[in-house]
Amino acid sequence: MQIYDLIQKTRRLTPLTEREIQTLVEGFTRGEVPDYMMSAWLMAVCCQGLTTAETAALTQAMRDSGECLDLSSLGAPTVDKHSTGGIGDKTTIIVAPIVAACGGLVPKMSGRGLGYTGGTIDKFQSIPGFTVDLPHKAFMRILEEIGCCVIAQSGDLTPADKKMYALRNLTATVESIPLICSSIMCKKLALGADCILLDVKYGSGAFMKTSDEAAVLADLMVDVGKQAGRNCRALITDMNAPLGACVGNGLEVEEAIRILRGEVHGRLTELALSLAAQMLVMIGKGDIVECRQIAEDALTSGRALERLEAMITAQGGDASVTEDLSKMPHSPVQLTVRSPENGYITSIQSEEVGLASLGLGAGRTAAHQEIDPGAGVVFSRSVGDEAVKGEPLFTVYGRTEELCETAAKRIMDAITIEETPAEPVKLIYKIVE
Ligand code: URA
Repeated sequence: MQIYDLIQKTRRLTPLTEREIQTLVEGFTRGEVPDYMMSAWLMAVCCQGLTTAETAALTQAMRDSGECLDLSSLGAPTVDKHSTGGIGDKTTIIVAPIVAACGGLVPKMSGRGLGYTGGTIDKFQSIPGFTVDLPHKAFMRILEEIGCCVIAQSGDLTPADKKMYALRNLTATVESIPLICSSIMCKKLALGADCILLDVKYGSGAFMKTSDEAAVLADLMVDVGKQAGRNCRALITDMNAPLGACVGNGLEVEEAIRILRGEVHGRLTELALSLAAQMLVMIGKGDIVECRQIAEDALTSGRALERLEAMITAQGGDASVTEDLSKMPHSPVQLTVRSPENGYITSIQSEEVGLASLGLGAGRTAAHQEIDPGAGVVFSRSVGDEAVKGEPLFTVYGRTEELCETAAKRIMDAITIEETPAEPVKLIYKIVE
């Protein structure tokens, strides 16, 4: 089989067979298919697309390129949750302990953040002492005893994705729905959870800019998951404004803890409860109304917070941060920006907020860059709120005054204040089952 022919077939919209896709992926993983050929094929996919059957075959070939975990010895259904990435998205820190407190098992293997959307691993690592580099045996033990565990992606998992993603970054082929789908889903399949809940984001701070694009990606991911024998669902959710009040690793953990303490209510809490309820339905804890109630009880009773504390301790972290948030890292310079006028906040461009946090050191532009766990922004007002002249709008946290001033200007430019409030945007646009 000539790789040249496969590139030409995809370019001419002739579907590849499962065997042809396996040959391409296996050859590339072993280093026998050169980067220039794989780059050409990725560009053909980017321009011409793939059928659902081809995307499913690609995803399974990428899954099989490395190690796959076997969670079956845990003896209870496992449920993974994945977000396609957004600004201020710390739902995993809230949802995993809620589901664990309700008897679910939540295995999480996440990547470090690259670019302006923060990675779950970076958020957990901002807790003093917390380790995400655990052997699989310890991962399984913590899952069994506590119900949730978060580790960094193992180097042996899906090597084909690692190599393909690096090429996509260099060849302007990241933004392809079948490639995004196969890249995300191969890792989810290799982790081995029985159920997978996807939170597909759309809006200015997300990969998918419109709800229609997000719906196409969600449908495809659910199809691909089901074809691989998994129970898979997706929520399509709004990412036009930052999720919650905090953006930045340690600051986001603090916000999640406040929600688990029952101190904060709003869109982030609502999304976390909706995701948790869906996960509980997927593992057979009841219908959606019952599961929503079960999730709320776990939150309000403090049982979910106890699970988070147990998980932090089991992973070597200082669980007393949940009682004393001053133990979390905070960058030394803090700059509060006040409203220049009276009115209503009608939008906060989340992509700009993400880029401003990246500039503060809360994200990385290259894989091995250090991040500042105490950097970021805390909003005192969100979309829909009244802005009062002279009252605080947000505070930025950074290492120097110069960094804070640059970020503050960028964030201020991303906020629109108008005389009348805007129509509220639906948080959950659609559920794909
Ligand atoms: N996340 C991934 O893991 N892969 C993509 O292609 C996009 C987002």
